[in-house]
Amino acid sequence: MAGIIFFKTTHLKLISDFYQQYLGMGLWLDQGQCKIFESGNLRLGFCAAEQAETSGTITFYYSSIAEVDKAYTRFTRIATSQPKQNPDFNIYHFWGQDPEGRILEFQHFLPRYQDDQALKILNPDEHKPRLLLTMFLPEPVMQVLKKDFCVKANILDRLLSKAELMQGISDAEALICLLGDTISTDVLEAAPNLKVISNYAVGYNNIDLEAAKSRNIAVCNTPGVLTESTADLTWTLIMATARRIVASDIFTREGHFTGWKPLLFLGKDVHERKLGIIGMGRIGQAVARRATGFDMKVLYTSPQPKELPFAAEHLPLDDLLREADIISLHLPLTNDTWHLLGARELDLLKPGAILINTARGAIVDEAELITRLRDQRIFAAGFDVYEHEPDIPQELRELDNVVLLPHIGSASIETRTKMGYLAAANAIAIIRNEAAPARIV
Ligand code: DGY
Repeated sequence: MAGIIFFKTTHLKLISDFYQQYLGMGLWLDQGQCKIFESGNLRLGFCAAEQAETSGTITFYYSSIAEVDKAYTRFTRIATSQPKQNPDFNIYHFWGQDPEGRILEFQHFLPRYQDDQALKILNPDEHKPRLLLTMFLPEPVMQVLKKDFCVKANILDRLLSKAELMQGISDAEALICLLGDTISTDVLEAAPNLKVISNYAVGYNNIDLEAAKSRNIAVCNTPGVLTESTADLTWTLIMATARRIVASDIFTREGHFTGWKPLLFLGKDVHERKLGIIGMGRIGQAVARRATGFDMKVLYTSPQPKELPFAAEHLPLDDLLREADIISLHLPLTNDTWHLLGARELDLLKPGAILINTARGAIVDEAELITRLRDQRIFAAGFDVYEHEPDIPQELRELDNVVLLPHIGSASIETRTKMGYLAAANAIAIIRNEAAPARIV
């Protein structure tokens, strides 16, 4: 799969847009009339030409049929061939029609991975330090990593099992992992050469810090770069829950909208309400700052009052819970914050309050919250995180006064790329014996 496959095209712009926007491939090299795209270990080059090259079929490598379907949501599938098989791949042909009526033909290589083949060395190089990457990061970050490391990566679209993690880490000097990877003592036992754990997240409750420290392994995270995106998403949830946006959208799509009505989908005003921020760190402050535009009164809890560049009242937790109309959580999950909001605390909330959680699920006792949402004591809740993530209780999915998101607080292209650069910089610095930009221990 090494090398670049080149195509000549009479539609360079169309092809470029398609590859970037619909297939999410990164632009690896742009020379105007010649563009090269990259995804994973595949590079495709397209050069403008008077006449398109017709003999070639565009070839893609995907890890699953689900991924193929995701990439082609804009296309009507006309036909797919029976797979031809070779030892490594199932090879499918797919003929589809785009919305403008063009018929395109693609060839898909779906690796015939066994479950124990999640890990692959992307750029074998015995002179570079070994990095285990537990899931692919945005393409520009992959380039940086491959420059400095011999990268062993999880090439599948799922988390590694503990056994895979332990196998992958066994010869690694650096690890870049996700918040879903549990880095426990026994995982570290399997990593005699490990010097750095670089978490691709600001939260690090997935890592046993003491175990890392006692083995002289540095632990780093990605603070700062995701603050504003997470605050934006928090506000998305505030507005969506208060104004019942998701339920209204479903109602409209399902064809129930028969005309304007005085009592249709009445929600709650956000402006001039009291916003209670639990945890006034970087993200809490960015959320609070946005509230000034809504003429809200900001209340907050934190271990100590803070000097803030906006008006905000510091309160004990119980008082904040009693007073705030909308409560938003912005604190890490630790032994002290686990179930910080349990039955007693949730009962302090004003009837009709709204609760937003973009921090960590287990800060709230989810079962107790569901009970209070079901009987409407709490007006609505916005979840980006869950107590037993990624499991979401069926009772929660059935409620129509909740908005449920798949942990996407930091999920903008820009932010996830910045997080990747920071995670890479952390790992590179520790390997070079330099000060890392964001080291925890
Ligand atoms: C984090 O970084 O901890 C978020 O939960 C994901 O970006």
